[in-house]
Amino acid sequence: MKINSEEEQKKLLMQQEITIVKRMSDIGHKIAVMSGKGGVGKSTISVNLAVAFALKNYQTGIMDVDLHGPDVPHMLGIENAILQSSPHGIIPVKARENLEVLSIEFMLPTKGAPIIWRGPKKTGAIKQFLSDVSWGNLDVLVVDNPPGTGDEPLTILQSISPLDGVVMVTTPQAVAGEDVRKCVNMVKGLNIPILGIIENMSGFTCPHCHEEINIFGKGEGKQLAEELEVPYLGSLPVETGVGENSDQGKPFIREDPDSEISKKFMKIVSKIEDKVFNGKK
Ligand SMILES: Nc1ncnc2c1ncn2[C@@H]1O[C@H](COP(=O)(O)OP(=O)(O)OP(=O)(O)O)[C@@H](O)[C@H]1O
Ligand SMILES: [Mg+2]
Repeated sequence: MKINSEEEQKKLLMQQEITIVKRMSDIGHKIAVMSGKGGVGKSTISVNLAVAFALKNYQTGIMDVDLHGPDVPHMLGIENAILQSSPHGIIPVKARENLEVLSIEFMLPTKGAPIIWRGPKKTGAIKQFLSDVSWGNLDVLVVDNPPGTGDEPLTILQSISPLDGVVMVTTPQAVAGEDVRKCVNMVKGLNIPILGIIENMSGFTCPHCHEEINIFGKGEGKQLAEELEVPYLGSLPVETGVGENSDQGKPFIREDPDSEISKKFMKIVSKIEDKVFNGKK
């Protein structure tokens, strides 16, 4: 459709904002997973959180707004899926029972094609995700964000209203803490609740000698939470199978539910569930 005037463009953008409000109000709860730092485990945690909710029989969606590095489809083993549309909008991909997925990865013409977009185009794409996707009746939507305080997390924080809150991921390293502090302050500045901080990659137990080795340190996430006066959700260890399972599209919570990381993760999921659902579905 050709847009003739600035006036018409404004009208269309206004209509899109109204549609976003309507679509988001149809979803029970919305949670964003963020971090100021890259590579700390945001996508791993987003995927396992969504799978855990789905296993608990919540109708769950996961939206991957990491436009430059959309890892969610691969981590769920559905990277070759293709999006379909209906008169009600784009239909997300069904990953498994109770779990629907949306990612820019499903829209790329060829595997490995990069997204080379500047700010306004990225904001526009995310708003289109929010306005054009027909999620149906979801109990909860988990949004995996790229690192930092740029266009993508900012668009999510400003466009999803109300957002139940943000799960902030850090590692015990000081450099991660410094970047996460900025991200926490951005979220606080927008008056959006922080559901809590997770310290990922916190200690490693050698599978041979069973000695604990603190590869990146330990405990800094809790200290940061206290300093910033936000809840602390818990820590997750480095575990050898996590990366391999993730590469094979098998979330650890489902693949290895008795592992140390899965047990610790389920405690964190219960805390998030209590905060978000408050005993009601
Ligand atoms: N607790 C863990 N134990 C072992 N490996 C982990 C753990 N958490 C994450 N990883 C691995 O670390 C790498 C980075 O994780 P992930 O991609 O989830 O981080 P991210 O914060 O989403 O990164 P990005 O900023 O690039 O989006 C992946 O290879 C993942 O499998
Ligand atoms: Mg990621």
